[in-house]
This record gives sequence, C-alpha cells and structure tokens, in this order.
Amino acid sequence: MHLLVLQGPNLNMLGQREPTIYGSTTLADIHSAMSERASAAGIELSFVQSNHEGVLVDTLHAHYGNIQGIIINPGALTHYGLSLRDGLALMDVPIIEVHLSNVYARETFRHHSVVAAIAQGQISGLGWHGYLYAIDWFDQRKQA
Ligand code: DQA
Repeated sequence: MHLLVLQGPNLNMLGQREPTIYGSTTLADIHSAMSERASAAGIELSFVQSNHEGVLVDTLHAHYGNIQGIIINPGALTHYGLSLRDGLALMDVPIIEVHLSNVYARETFRHHSVVAAIAQGQISGLGWHGYLYAIDWFDQRKQA
C-alpha cells in the first residue's frame, strides 16, 4: 500500500510557527515518526509540502492511479481551497484529513472544511499524533 502525505501552506514552519497552537515538533520530525509507523505496517509513504495550491493539485495528478490513499493537512486551504478539494475528489481513493489543532475550538472561519465532505474522516486537535492515527486507520483497513 502506497499513501500520499500532503502538507499545505505554512506547515513547513512547524516548530517555529505559533508553537502554543501547533506544538514544537517540526515537520521533519513528524514525517520521520510517520515513516517509522508506516514501515512497521508495511506501508509506503510519499511526502509533499507546498505553500502553493497549484503545486498540491499537480502533485495529486502526478500520483493519479498510483496510490491507495491520501493523508492531508490542507492548512488554511481547508477552509476555501476548492481547486485542491476537486483535485482530491478526482483521485477516488480514501482521504483522511488531519489538523494539529482543534479547528472547531478556534475562529469561526476554521469551522468549515471544503475537504471534509469528500474525506473518509477527519482528525482534529490531537496534535502531530493525529498523523499516526491516520496511518493506523489505513493499516487496519488493509488488514480487514
Ligand atoms: C491547521 C488548521 C488550519 O486552520 C490552519 O490554517 C493551518 C493548520 C491545523 O493543522 O490545525 O494551517 O490545518
């Protein structure tokens, strides 16, 4: 099983970015913890972070037909990124949406996700461990 891990705008700054909200763990640390979890489960991961919606859409197209699932934190594109949402929808694979913070406990503009309705599920507010739980979901699904 091969999963695409997509990270949206500003997530490259994790560790320095508003640590009281997003924690002090860097994106590299998160990706290395994910790699460890995935390799133990026999799952292959490809990681892409971009601050540009079009790059994220191009990345989806480049992986069309070659992946079995997507783990995505769309960053602020969660709330308005319709090109990204449509790109995700055309992939026709299960999508898990991850947010480090609990978006529902924050500003109202964060309460709506344009991705949520096409995702299998959403993990919000569990910090970087949410990414590991997303891998666990794909792992248990693979075994079922
Ligand atoms: C985020 C929440 C979004 O509202 C915000 O724009 C982000 C990060 C999260 O992981 O909590 O960039 O997706």
